[in-house]
Amino acid sequence: MAAEPCRYPFSWPSATGQPVQFAGLHDEPLVRVTLPSGDTALLITRYDDIRAVLTDPRVSKNRNRPDIARMTEKKVKVFQSQVDMDPPAHTRMRRLIATAFTPGRVDKLRPRIQQITDGLLDEMAAGPQPADLAAALAFPLSIQVICELLGVPPADRDQFTSATAPPWDYMRDLIAHKREEPADDLISALIQVHDEDDGRLSATELLWWSTVLLLAGYETTANQLCSSAVLLLTHPDQLDLLRKDYTRTPLAVEELLRCQVVGTSLSMLRYVTEDIEVGGTTVRAGSSVITALESANHDPAAFSCPADLDIARIGAQQLTFSVGRHFCAGASLARVELQIALESLLRRFPALRLAEAADDLRRHDDAFTQGFVTVPVAW
Ligand code: HEM
Repeated sequence: MAAEPCRYPFSWPSATGQPVQFAGLHDEPLVRVTLPSGDTALLITRYDDIRAVLTDPRVSKNRNRPDIARMTEKKVKVFQSQVDMDPPAHTRMRRLIATAFTPGRVDKLRPRIQQITDGLLDEMAAGPQPADLAAALAFPLSIQVICELLGVPPADRDQFTSATAPPWDYMRDLIAHKREEPADDLISALIQVHDEDDGRLSATELLWWSTVLLLAGYETTANQLCSSAVLLLTHPDQLDLLRKDYTRTPLAVEELLRCQVVGTSLSMLRYVTEDIEVGGTTVRAGSSVITALESANHDPAAFSCPADLDIARIGAQQLTFSVGRHFCAGASLARVELQIALESLLRRFPALRLAEAADDLRRHDDAFTQGFVTVPVAW
């Protein structure tokens, strides 16, 4: 292991390039890194090790420990969790929300997701060129969908999208309002569990999970949709393949997720509660580790020519939604949104192209999200 820790998150240099740190990264199973907080952690680089660590009960996601590495200097981000993210508290909570996101239930949302997408594409087609795909499609679509599911009024968007800190006050008020006027939505259902079955869901958990569902429910999906579009538009051969046969869309979405040029794995921070082995090295109890999902997705031992976008790729499952007990609760919803939005966008605009040079597209300078700020397109 190199003596000098390198900085994490790595940055994606351009729309088409990869982080320089990827070169030779998988030669070492563990890399010492410095986080934005200044604390250090061990980055786990390889696909198989990451799967093993994320499913190891000796590795905890409960971040309420004094000796765990801090992700950022200020714990303003929702992901430095205020609730216990280990079993049994976490398992109980996941069961409560799992019913809303089963693939079967999410499939029933398809017609509505299609309808919202079509409406947004109509507006985009009638508007001026170039259009910003983030503002015209990606954000309004994912915000509308998660709002309808949770029962958050989309018109309140400015109150929960503009803040740098999680919108706790907004959600507290909304919960109070919904308690008076419950509806057929996920937050009302959680309130009912809290109120009628005292002890199963604490007030803190109710507030925390409602907020996480709202934030996790749109930002990642919107950013992923933008980067998927950019990747396709900068890989004309792959775009052609998809345009020739839209039954490839689900597989293409998986490959676009694998290439994952959106999220960092800073929020994948874990704490080792007992000594474990990673790639033949002992990681001591008390260590903070980061399972670098983007590194797993580019591990040449798991994916041949990992730098290439290959929408017909089959084989190992990408790890962008993580694995194990914290596997993304909204993965099936995100997949359906991405599939519908990408296919509909390409069908509607057969001559869709980036309106700026791909390498001039700016990315968010954020420890958690490195999505594109805007994606100007013309048709
Ligand atoms: C492309 C879009 C998305 C990506 C890439 C993504 C990725 C992730 C990742 C990496 C985690 C962390 C897992 C871990 O710590 O092991 C996560 C957790 C989570 N995601 Fe997503 N997500 C997406 C969309 C969504 C959507 C649409 C929702 C909600 C409807 C959602 C809700 C959640 C929740 C509630 C958790 C916490 C799960 C837990 O700790 O048990 N995500 N997601």
